[in-house]
Amino acid sequence: MISKVWFYLKLGYKLIKKEVVNREDYRGEYDKVSGTYHYWLKEMGRYTDNIIHSKYIEIDKELRILDFACGTGYITKALLNKSVKYKITSVDQSNKMLEKLLDMNDPRVTAIQSDGIEFLETTNEKYDVIFFGWALSYFDHNELLMLFNRILKPGGILAIITNVEGTLDKIESIFLKVMSEKQKEVIKPMDIKLNLPKGKKGLVKWCNKYRFKALEVEEGEAFFSFKEPEELLQWLNVTGAAAGTRKIFKNYDEVKPSIIEKIKKEKHKNGAYEINHKFAYGIFRKE
Ligand SMILES: C[S@@+](CC[C@H](N)C(=O)[O-])C[C@H]1O[C@@H](n2cnc3c(N)ncnc32)[C@H](O)[C@@H]1O
Repeated sequence: MISKVWFYLKLGYKLIKKEVVNREDYRGEYDKVSGTYHYWLKEMGRYTDNIIHSKYIEIDKELRILDFACGTGYITKALLNKSVKYKITSVDQSNKMLEKLLDMNDPRVTAIQSDGIEFLETTNEKYDVIFFGWALSYFDHNELLMLFNRILKPGGILAIITNVEGTLDKIESIFLKVMSEKQKEVIKPMDIKLNLPKGKKGLVKWCNKYRFKALEVEEGEAFFSFKEPEELLQWLNVTGAAAGTRKIFKNYDEVKPSIIEKIKKEKHKNGAYEINHKFAYGIFRKE
């Protein structure tokens, strides 16, 4: 008992000192995921389409668009097909994810490998539209929304889709339990929960604070079912849904059996292992 209390105190201290899974860790993790990220897109890309094809994104106008944390370029590629008039800047910190985007070699796209915050702080460009898909959890939303505001033109559009609180039900507690059992293996915690909004209402609240007015917001949830707990864990790893979790531990292979055992216990439902992805998306206008 005492050792558990001591352990949680230590984790709390690391969170306060920001000794947590960091930008560099995520860069490495997404480099690794780049070859399998298409599994995510195949299932979840359809939800991103809701913001790409929103009526608020004009088609016949020359637009300067930023695809922020663009990954392998799902949004960028769809936009290129949508209009010849768009000029797109696509930014991501993972070289390997960006390589997949560069495959298409289109002069309408400028791809930039950079930490997102560094890019936003230093660019002199102003944009008509910012697209931001599935990466809010990696940023401090206050810092980010303030910087988005700075680089958007007056009346500019922010199109965003993000995980929300309640996504990956029980996965965080599973990892916390494993960390508590394998204390010697733990290097640092993750602070991702702090960066997820409470559904679409939470997203609107965050955006309103930085003078982004909601034009359209929705929320949804997708479920995936697996026969074996190992398959569920593999889904989390190959899609990037659990990006960063490997960096919690000294030796991931050492703790993997404990993670699987906990998934087996806590995620078994109706003869299968189910995982949920809860999300919200919206189109916002800078006032
Ligand atoms: C889940 S992927 C989303 C990719 C793309 N937006 C999409 O909708 O498919 C998250 C992306 O965020 C990027 N990312 C995470 N932290 C970042 C940072 N600090 N700066 C720039 N990119 C970052 C990752 O490298 C990864 O490509």
